[in-house]
Amino acid sequence: MKTQVLIIGAGPSGLLLGQLLAQAGIDALIIERQTPDYVLGRIRAGILEQVTVDLLHEAGVGHRLAVEGTVHRGIELVFSGQRHMIDVAGLTGGKTVTAYGQTEVTRDLMQARSAAGLPSVYGVSELTLQDLDSNKPWVRFKADGQTQEVQADFVAGCDGFHGASRASIPRHVLREYERTYPFGWLGMLSDTPPVSPHAIIYANSPRGFALCSMRSLTRSRYYVQCPLDDRIEDWNDDRFWEELRCRLDVDTASRLITGKSIEKSIAPLRSFVAEPMRWGSLFLAGDAAHIVPPTGAKGLNLAAADVKLLASALSDWYRLGQSRAMDTYSERSLRRIWKAERFAWWLTSLMHRFPDTDDFGQRMQEAELAYLTSSAAAATTLAENYVGLPLEL
Ligand code: APR
Ligand code: PHB
Repeated sequence: MKTQVLIIGAGPSGLLLGQLLAQAGIDALIIERQTPDYVLGRIRAGILEQVTVDLLHEAGVGHRLAVEGTVHRGIELVFSGQRHMIDVAGLTGGKTVTAYGQTEVTRDLMQARSAAGLPSVYGVSELTLQDLDSNKPWVRFKADGQTQEVQADFVAGCDGFHGASRASIPRHVLREYERTYPFGWLGMLSDTPPVSPHAIIYANSPRGFALCSMRSLTRSRYYVQCPLDDRIEDWNDDRFWEELRCRLDVDTASRLITGKSIEKSIAPLRSFVAEPMRWGSLFLAGDAAHIVPPTGAKGLNLAAADVKLLASALSDWYRLGQSRAMDTYSERSLRRIWKAERFAWWLTSLMHRFPDTDDFGQRMQEAELAYLTSSAAAATTLAENYVGLPLEL
């Protein structure tokens, strides 16, 4: 079999790339290890920057987002028992973020792909990537018990952090940067009205970080910082709600509406960047190339920005025969990625309790929070990063 662009992975990166390439008249085949239901069962963050919202509209998958997404004009920071509003829209000339779950983005993209009759193969295994350093790369994999081979002009590695693409780049070419954090996030989803439908709440309390977010006006998403070795069985719903309440200001805690959880999971936090994002005919995008800790919800947004740059670079190649945008894809993407890495690392450092922080470190955190909520200059720095930096920096 032959295709122009072989996309590995049907997460948000692979699906959005497939959609943008189809619009540009470029053939692509997507291969995915899991089943569609499995992909839709993964609960991840749900805050979209304006750039991402615009891109989803441009890709023709923005109708449900426009109706069901909730626009947030600000965020709230809780510390020392007090809640402080950061007027993100006011500080950025009206820019906002939209609450709309990654699961829904994925569902919309999957539906658009199948409605357009575009090819995807789910449930592939034993994938190997071959001749990536040539202009005739090809892959071999198993699907439905049959071994298949596909040749392509280019391969897009959209297969997430544990995928096969990055692992195919020789060790002497690839440089990886990583930071892990000494805690995880315990997340819970419940069909209860969000405690704060207008703004996401980030809380730094003596018992650790907490976050109040939402998926819709009837579905809430909450998180609490927890030790990395905690097990999900240790956290029944009552314990979760009680812990969350303790970490919020009194007013928010008193308004919290609790109910049965519909999903609970613990995730470690990691910062990670792989350079370069291109090797020969292979281009990495999304989690395959970089991970941010979830504080600030940059993961999906970064993936969307990569894919936008990659789709237009490939379109320049097929439409105009120009390789410049492809040749600079890695460098241009990494410029934005490192800035988002910095922001996610900084917000994580500011809002969490680190087990080994001394009294001085603690005071520094408190002073920085006080500065942020009393200086327009400091709050603007937070706001402009929160809504997302421009696509090309
Ligand atoms: N063969 C085929 N598919 C694979 C393989 C493989 N060897 N390895 C992984 N995959 C698939 C995974 O099953 C997954 O569906 O690649 C997909 C990668 O999807 P994501 O992990 O969602 O990564 P990405 O599409 O880049 O999305 C980035 O997701 O993890 C969040 O915070 C992140 O929001 C960000 C977004
Ligand atoms: C979420 O809604 O899941 C969410 C929101 C904001 C974050 C992280 C996650 O910073």
